[in-house]
Amino acid sequence: MGVAIREARSALDFEYVRRLRNANRGFLTGDARRIGLLRQLRFWLRRPPSIDLYVAELDGRRCGYLLLRRDGDTTWITEVVDARHRGRGVAQAMIRFAAARRPHLSAEILSANEASLRLHARAGFERVGAADGRERHVLAAGEASRAA
Ligand SMILES: CC(C)(COP(=O)(O)OP(=O)(O)OC[C@H]1O[C@@H](n2cnc3c(N)ncnc32)[C@H](O)[C@@H]1OP(=O)(O)O)[C@@H](O)C(=O)NCCC(=O)NCCS
Repeated sequence: MGVAIREARSALDFEYVRRLRNANRGFLTGDARRIGLLRQLRFWLRRPPSIDLYVAELDGRRCGYLLLRRDGDTTWITEVVDARHRGRGVAQAMIRFAAARRPHLSAEILSANEASLRLHARAGFERVGAADGRERHVLAAGEASRAA
């Protein structure tokens, strides 16, 4: 199985991400409001420099996205995989991809999101705190090389 991860570039990539993100917004810990076309178009045209957005592909077809947001010394990671393509190692490949590029990763995960908790624990993340039904997990620099 070949997972390819590449930068999101085209308006179609951003539209794909918008739809997948809206369909999975119940799993997100930040602003979980639906994102409309216009807002995503603005994001495509003028992406904040702190954010890198990637699309994952399986056999040449989009199957998920990875968002990395720099915040001081750490990078917040968000992975979303299309429900039809889960359980095939796509998210794990995204974490390896991110860990190979960023020395310190952080993830904010809903305490009820068992799939995500397992995913990050398996990749070497450690839980460093919890509040209001959310948990923070980090992958430190040394661990990143193990994940990669
Ligand atoms: C969480 C999510 C990204 C996992 O994507 P995925 O591509 O299916 O995950 P992988 O196939 O790479 O699985 C890697 C590991 O994660 C864990 N995992 C993945 N799905 C799981 C599930 N449904 N239940 C329990 N553990 C799960 C397993 O430990 C798995 O390894 P294993 O199969 O060898 O045991 C995906 O379910 C998803 O997009 N969920 C909705 C959005 C979301 O919650 N994103 C994370 C935001 S913090």
